[in-house]
Amino acid sequence: MNQLPKLSGFHLQNDNWFAENVSLLDIANQFGTPCYVYSKKALTQAFMAYESACLRKDGTRRARVHFAMKSNSNLAILDVFAQLGAGFDLVSGGELERVIAAGVNPALCVFSGVGKSVQEITRALEVGVKCFNIESIPELSRINDIAGQLGLVAPISLRVNPDVDAKTHPYISTGLKDNKFGIAYESVLATYAAAKSMPNCNIVGIDCHIGSQILDIQPYLDALDRVLLLIEQLRDQGINIHHLDIGGGLGIDYGGDIAPDITLFANTLLNHIEKRGFGFLDVIFEPGRSLVGNAGVLLTRIEYLKPTDAKNFCVVDAAMNDLMRPAMYDAFHSIVPVVNKSLLAETYDVVGPVCESGDWLGKDRLLSVVSGDLLAILSAGAYGSTMSSNYNTRPRAAEVMVSDTSVHLIRERETVQSLFALEHLLPK
Ligand code: LLP
Repeated sequence: MNQLPKLSGFHLQNDNWFAENVSLLDIANQFGTPCYVYSKKALTQAFMAYESACLRKDGTRRARVHFAMKSNSNLAILDVFAQLGAGFDLVSGGELERVIAAGVNPALCVFSGVGKSVQEITRALEVGVKCFNIESIPELSRINDIAGQLGLVAPISLRVNPDVDAKTHPYISTGLKDNKFGIAYESVLATYAAAKSMPNCNIVGIDCHIGSQILDIQPYLDALDRVLLLIEQLRDQGINIHHLDIGGGLGIDYGGDIAPDITLFANTLLNHIEKRGFGFLDVIFEPGRSLVGNAGVLLTRIEYLKPTDAKNFCVVDAAMNDLMRPAMYDAFHSIVPVVNKSLLAETYDVVGPVCESGDWLGKDRLLSVVSGDLLAILSAGAYGSTMSSNYNTRPRAAEVMVSDTSVHLIRERETVQSLFALEHLLPK
């Protein structure tokens, strides 16, 4: 892959990259590097692309988007989506506290994840989440017990593992039999029967999620057919399902990927559900990457150009701790100079300062740059800042959001002192 992804929030103008109407050069000078930059317009457009399939002409809803906040959980990003009418998909007590802090009604949140703790379940019941997406029988029993102790009823959905191959990276494929996720397809009916007999659980839905960065609609249709069959069988057993949560996973263009158009994707699935006679169901999408991935870039400055006999290295001030995806999944992100210069281009491996050979951000990139120049790592809005760490005692990057001509600091750069503020020496 060596093309640039199609971006709506970022563009090149007179040899300078811009986020909406602010130059990335100005942002780097004002906020320093490394720095994540998001475009409010790109976030909004991606959301509205889902919304135009989710809303009927008469204003009634066919489906609702629940943003998978693990992809980017900054409060300002949550707020942008909340203002647009999103619900949320969360996977931890920490994410629950974030949506509450962003002023979101917990009744708009589904709670997913294979390892929900007693504390997390208790808090989610107390604040009244829309639904627990349940991944195992022990989890179901635990939720029933806790709800009983609190004198509450837990709204539940079972996450079906449909055993469908999403044809994506093995680390982000989740709907196969040997993945840890969901309840095995053959056990789903019996598990619903068990749930029905539990006094403190109320069955409200069914859900599945087959993986991430999926570029083909067919695996979704296969998974849907398998889930719709279960809904029919459940109806015959006297169990009525109100909502169908199809999960997230739609892929994006990182530079040469052919990703389905969001509206087309959502319409295809919704039309399929209606054609099969299930138009009465409330449908939920849980997208993360397709809402935020191409709405963000990571700005970094070149520290050194280091030619060696084997390779040229371009050593930058961002690293695997800031953007883990290349090291972890061999993921491709396009990398562009923030200001285009007419210099002789050289091929570089773009690497960070972290002491690991796995600390690379791009390999074999043709760049016309000198040390001190700025680079933008594109398509970094999803699973960038949320997966960042403090490895090598590196403070996490600043994050800013651009809206037209204004720039807002939405996360301050961490201070080094804050990184060890919770540590203690042994008594002397
Ligand atoms: N729903 C559930 C239950 C999920 O587990 C996920 C993502 C999503 C929704 C959202 O999927 P998306 O639309 O973003 O593909 N760190 C990896 C991706 C991990 C995805 C985990 N689950 C990466 O950087 O590629």
